Amino acid sequence: MSQKILGIAGSLRRESYNRAVLNTLAEGREIEIFDISSIPLYNADLDGEHPPDPVRKFKDAIAASAGLLIVSPEYNYGIPGLLKNALDWASRPAYKSVLKGKKVAIITCSMATTGGARAQAAIRDCLYACLAEVVPYMEVAIPSVHNKVENGRLSDAKSLELAEGLLKALR
Ligand SMILES: Cc1cc2nc3c(=O)[nH]c(=O)nc-3n(C[C@H](O)[C@H](O)[C@H](O)COP(=O)(O)O)c2cc1C
Repeated sequence: MSQKILGIAGSLRRESYNRAVLNTLAEGREIEIFDISSIPLYNADLDGEHPPDPVRKFKDAIAASAGLLIVSPEYNYGIPGLLKNALDWASRPAYKSVLKGKKVAIITCSMATTGGARAQAAIRDCLYACLAEVVPYMEVAIPSVHNKVENGRLSDAKSLELAEGLLKALR
């Protein structure tokens, strides 16, 4: 298994703050970012030993990683559909998937004052169902993120310090 962390962003938006945060943290670190945009909608009929190619690549990348770093917004108090969908694919076969025992660090970012804390709780719950190991650490939920990203980079010292502490815990 490599020492590489697999980074996953829960937003496809070109100017996504969450992706900006993930990109900032990946700089100069062994973090490979996996783009989940090509993962199709979950369909159990297509699942099994030979899932669609993007799903296979996603599962292989998770299996080969030393851990996951998820950076995601909150959509309507929950997990953005594209992220939940990707985790659902990765979660099969149940209780023995590539997520079982995988260390995961979660960061949520929002323009609201809540920092996406509700999505964070939902992501944690989902990972618990997958038998993944969410890294025990202070919750890293970055509020007012639109004021903390400049030129596509997280520039807020306090948020950076918290996120770096979480990454250390993940390692
Ligand atoms: C469909 C939708 C639902 C949203 N629901 C929430 C929400 O429940 N809580 C929240 O804090 N922000 C919510 N937002 C605002 C997002 O946090 C904000 O758009 C954020 O910038 C999205 O992340 P991104 O910049 O990485 O794309 C929602 C945005 C969308 C598009």
